[in-house]
Amino acid sequence: MDHLLILLIASAVIAFAFWPRCRKQCAAATKPHPSFWKTLLTTHSLNQENDMIDINPGTTLARLSITYKVLFTGFLLVIGVGLMMAGMQIMLTHGKADGKPGVSINDIVYSYYGNRSGSKLESMLNGSMKAMAPDEERFALIQWARDEAPAKDWPTKIEPIMKQYCVSCHNAEATIPDFTKLANVQKVAEVDQGASIGTLTRVSHIHLFGISFIFLFVGWIFGMSEYKLKWKLILISTPFAFLIIDVMSWWLTKYIPVFAWFTMIGGFGYSLASTVMIFTALMQMWLPREMWWPKWEQDETK
Ligand code: HEC
Repeated sequence: MDHLLILLIASAVIAFAFWPRCRKQCAAATKPHPSFWKTLLTTHSLNQENDMIDINPGTTLARLSITYKVLFTGFLLVIGVGLMMAGMQIMLTHGKADGKPGVSINDIVYSYYGNRSGSKLESMLNGSMKAMAPDEERFALIQWARDEAPAKDWPTKIEPIMKQYCVSCHNAEATIPDFTKLANVQKVAEVDQGASIGTLTRVSHIHLFGISFIFLFVGWIFGMSEYKLKWKLILISTPFAFLIIDVMSWWLTKYIPVFAWFTMIGGFGYSLASTVMIFTALMQMWLPREMWWPKWEQDETK
């Protein structure tokens, strides 16, 4: 919580340092300052009024030939299902990190920073593996992990517990760690340092390369919709910004747990932006104009 407070104060200071200065100078210069949007839109678009709906004649989604409507719809539907699957996968992997269902800040912290207060073996035995063995055996395992998992106890104390309660699932055939071998049990008995640099680099580059292509095509299709130019630009650019925030936050969380909040915000931000883009595109391709939401004024859409 302390960290969060520091973070908030730091953001406030940065916002204060950059924002009001221009306003003050411009007010002094009597001339009204053209808004950021107005400047951007009048220099980069044919639209002279920043409130106009952005329409590229001939290439709007509604006027697209059926061939491309079907092509784009197929793509958008598969991407939509893919996003939901990604969400489910997050629930199933990160969601369980703290042993409680649902994704919480602790899950993200445990996944990247690790649970420095104990080993993975311990946190799992207090979490989703709690029901697997009676308390007495669980405590024996936790005690062994806290004693830095000495090999001498393996044949007498630990292996029998593993054989009786754990190896029915944790064996060589399974995709989960094989607990018939001491080395594998010792690995989960080490204090959990979170994601390794190796894992983070691998996941980061796959994520950045892969997902940016999804956003490129979703944004490309959405770019042909009839939408207020300002909002169109915001919707098209936010997923990329949030993607960077998301990936950066994993690295920061590895060292400073409070950045887990950025992972949450990043993921939420780009899911929301892509959902809006996908729904808008599908709506404008297939529904009559009267049913569109938000409703555009008739004269604006001409
Ligand atoms: C009914 C099958 C089953 C039994 C029995 C079982 N586990 Fe698991 N265990 C799993 C599954 C499935 C996972 C992976 C999914 C998850 O993380 O919840 C897992 C994951 C783990 C992990 C995390 C491994 C990692 O590196 O991510 C640990 C530690 C663990 N189990 C310990 C134990 C211990 C100790 C016992 C015996 C007391 C045990 N489990 C018994 C099914 C089982």
